[in-house]
Amino acid sequence: MPDGNPILARLKDDLATLEAGSQLRELAHPAGIDLCSNDYLGLSRDLRLRQAVIRALNEGAAIASTGSRLLSGNAPTWEELETEFARFVGAESALFFTSGYAANVGLLSALLGPGDCVFSDSANHASLIDGIRLSRARKVIFPHLDLNFLEARLRSEDAEPGRKFIVVESVFSMEGDRAPLEELAALAARFGAELIVDEAHAVGVFGREGRGLLDEVGLAGCVLASVHTCGKALASMGAFVACPETLKRFLINRARTFIFSTALPPYMAFQIRAAIGLVREADDRRCRVLEFAVTLRRRLQAAGLETGRSDSPIVPVLLGSNEGALAAARALRGAGFAVRAIRPPSVPLGTARLRLSLTATLTQQDCDRLARVLPECCRADVLDGVTTDRGSAGLSAGMPGARLKPGATAPGR
Ligand SMILES: Cc1ncc(COP(=O)(O)O)c(C=O)c1O
Repeated sequence: MPDGNPILARLKDDLATLEAGSQLRELAHPAGIDLCSNDYLGLSRDLRLRQAVIRALNEGAAIASTGSRLLSGNAPTWEELETEFARFVGAESALFFTSGYAANVGLLSALLGPGDCVFSDSANHASLIDGIRLSRARKVIFPHLDLNFLEARLRSEDAEPGRKFIVVESVFSMEGDRAPLEELAALAARFGAELIVDEAHAVGVFGREGRGLLDEVGLAGCVLASVHTCGKALASMGAFVACPETLKRFLINRARTFIFSTALPPYMAFQIRAAIGLVREADDRRCRVLEFAVTLRRRLQAAGLETGRSDSPIVPVLLGSNEGALAAARALRGAGFAVRAIRPPSVPLGTARLRLSLTATLTQQDCDRLARVLPECCRADVLDGVTTDRGSAGLSAGMPGARLKPGATAPGR
C-alpha cells in the first residue's frame, strides 16, 4: 500500500487524536496478579475444567462445528446444554449464542422494532447499546439507576403506542453495582413494560449455586429474557439467552447473529457443561471473592479512594482523568498487579478509573498488599507526574477525583 494512501492517512490522524487524549489502546500481555479478568471464581485454570475438555475430545467431541446451527453446526450436545441451562436459571428455555455480544445484539435487534420504546440504563454495555441501535426502536437513556427519572419517562410514554422494554445489567460491568431488580420489575409491571436483564457479571457469582442476581432476588423466570455469558465466571465462551420457548423459536428465525454465524465447536458445550457443574459447587469461592471485595472497598475508602456504589467483585477506583488512570495503572503494574486503566468510551467522560475485578484465587496476602499499595499508586504525586488536572487534584486533597456523574454518557456507549 503506497505511503500517501489517503484512507490510511485519515486513520493515522484518528489514532493521533486518540493518543493526544490519552485514549489510544494497545494490546498488551497481562502480567502479575490478576485484577483485570472476569474470572471471578478462578475456574479458568481449574484442572477439572481442563480435564473435562480433554475427556470430551478423547471421547470424540468434534473440534469444529462446520456451520451455523441452522446448517451443519447443530449437535444434540448443544440442545441438551440449553435445556440444562434453562433449568438452572429457572427459565422455560434457552438459546446459545457464540458470545455475549452476539446474544445481546441478536436478541435486541430481533425483538425490538421501530414502533417500540426502549428504556436503557446509561451504563449499559456496548453490546446492549448496539443491539438497541440496530433495532431502530425509540430510546430513552436514563441516568444510571435513576429510577425516579425512569418512572417519570415511563409515565410520559404511557399514552404512546408501541411496546415498552427496560434493559439493564444486573451487575454493571464498569461500576460493579447491582440493579434494583425487584423495583425495576415492579415499574415494568406497572407501566406494561418488559424487563430484559444482562446477567453477564452475575451468573456464577450471585444467587443459589451461582444462578444469578434474578435468582437471588426471587425473580428467576419472571422476566422476558435474561442473558448469561459463559466467558466470565463460567470460564468458557458464548452466552445463553434464557426466555420462553416461543421467544427462543423466534430468535432461531430472526436473530441475525444466531443465524449468520458459525456455531462454536461441540467440545465447547462439554466445557460449559462442566463449568456449570463446578459453579454450582462453588459456594466457598463465591463467599471468598465477595468477602475480598467487601474488605478491599472498606480499606480503599478509608484511604480516601472513591469506589462508587460497587457491591460485587468488580471494584472501580474512580480517578477522573485518563492520564491519572493510566499513571495509577502503571504504578500498580509496577507493584506486580495486572490491571488496566478504563477510559472513555468504555466509561463516561471524566470518570476514567482502575477496574479491579477480583477473583477467588487471590490469596489473603495478595488482597492485603493490594489494599496497602493501591492508595500509594493513586497518590497525587504519582498522578501529577503526568498531569495536574481535576482527578489528581481531587486525590491530593484526600478527596478522590471526579465521581460518576449520573446520566453522563460517553460518546459511543
Ligand atoms: C455486561 C456485558 N454484557 C455482554 C458482554 C459481552 O460478552 P462476551 O464477552 O461474551 O461477548 C460483556 C463483556 O464484557 C459484558 O460486560
